[in-house]
Amino acid sequence: MTGDRIIIFDTTLRDGEQSPGCSMNTAEKLEVARALVELGVDVIEAGFPVASPGDFEAVSRIAERFGDRSTICALSRSRDEDIDRAGAALQAAEQKRIHVFLATSAIHREHKLRMDKSQIIQRAVESVQRAREYCEDIEFSPEDAVRTELDFLCEVVERTIAAGATTVNIPDTVGYATPSHYHKVIRHLRENVPNIDSAIISAHCHDDLGLAVANSLAAVEAGARQVECTINGLGERAGNAALEEIVMAIRTRADYFGVHTGINTRKLFPTSHLVSSITGMKVQRNKAIVGQNAFAHEAGIHQHGVLKERSTYEIMRPEDVGYSGQNLVLGKHSGRAAFRDRIVQLGFELDDAALQRVFDDFIQLADKKKEIYDSDITALIENRLSDNLNNWELVRFQTSAGTNMMPTATVELQKNGETVTADAATGDGPIDAVFRALERIMQLPARLEDFDVRSVSGGKDAQGEVRVTVSVSGREYHGKAVSTDIIEAAAQAYLKALNRADANREPTTTAPAPPQP
Ligand code: KIV
Ligand code: ZN
Repeated sequence: MTGDRIIIFDTTLRDGEQSPGCSMNTAEKLEVARALVELGVDVIEAGFPVASPGDFEAVSRIAERFGDRSTICALSRSRDEDIDRAGAALQAAEQKRIHVFLATSAIHREHKLRMDKSQIIQRAVESVQRAREYCEDIEFSPEDAVRTELDFLCEVVERTIAAGATTVNIPDTVGYATPSHYHKVIRHLRENVPNIDSAIISAHCHDDLGLAVANSLAAVEAGARQVECTINGLGERAGNAALEEIVMAIRTRADYFGVHTGINTRKLFPTSHLVSSITGMKVQRNKAIVGQNAFAHEAGIHQHGVLKERSTYEIMRPEDVGYSGQNLVLGKHSGRAAFRDRIVQLGFELDDAALQRVFDDFIQLADKKKEIYDSDITALIENRLSDNLNNWELVRFQTSAGTNMMPTATVELQKNGETVTADAATGDGPIDAVFRALERIMQLPARLEDFDVRSVSGGKDAQGEVRVTVSVSGREYHGKAVSTDIIEAAAQAYLKALNRADANREPTTTAPAPPQP
């Protein structure tokens, strides 16, 4: 291994979840947390417990389930009630961290907090001390650090370390920094804060200028030893630094950075897919590392070179990030053992029950489709991964549509494996009719905001993937499903989105949520 280890702090479940339309329920957060643990993330920021009872529950369940495998972190403003909620939510974790933040820039001090410098220092110090009553691992973030006067930033960092902070995070909250500027800020702290070696310096960059990854890497060069990032760069506005890009830059250019991470890079692609399916945020095709085209060589001269010697045009091997592309893999006669092997090679870990369900789907698919590709298998797995989130299941549906006739759909659903309810509806087309029938049965009026269809692989018999975004009572929910029958894929995707809305309909307390950081 090369040089120091860089701590990978993932905030997909906190900063990432703040992205509009990306909110996840507890079951979904647990699913993402499981994937992050398997990916090898060192610290998982699981949420902001004081924000809502749902956030508190999610952090507690993640702490209970995964707190022996990764450090579970909870965010907290510099307020006693927030710190106490964070401490309580983390109770069950063996490895826990409280992350306390307080804005330090003049703009925030004057307009948001109406506090002067000495009040900021006092509040920050008291908050770190209070958090230390719950655990020893404390992170302090001077929010909007990049726009904070450097001498004041140094003072805040020094005082919070003296109060017990073990990590000092330097957020570029508004994505304002450039690589050399951020490098200077980190270097300045290292050179001017007398007790800086008693804490880890962390980078936290937003992507408003498209520089989040570059800035984070500049921080590593300047001596930061923790990077905060999210899967697929998810996050508010333009998002956070993308975990997969940071990790692969550090690995591919180990010669230059001289550091390493503990990430199992073969899980990057499956994790990116999982987060995209759960949040409904599509990964752009040409996205670095995890985009569908990231390893596609179109130009003849490149293909020629790659065929002769891969390193001519490839700086990373697709398999190192778990990219499977369009490999033709299995057919109807492939056995369960070959199927399991392939799934492991693709970077997934399924328990026996889940494996059996996906294998059954595979056998059914093999009846309809001659050639099955890795991308088909990935789609089948993702289709099943969110199963446990669905109370309502599709039993069967029938549609009729054609020229000069009113499209109709009859749908039958099961709730929690029991009651079977059927209803029928008409619509603009067969898909619209199915959607309306689903809404009638679940008594959940929804508005379709986005509908997207793509083919998972090539050929007329390819599986179609449908993604939908619906809004219910002003909130957006996503669903994604695959099938060789596009109407069925649409029905399943819509049902998944409605299931998410239905789960959210369950009673929660009505305490007002604090503003998000
Ligand atoms: O961007 C930011 O400043 C944050 C802090 C809460 C760390 O997310
Ligand atoms: Zn942030």
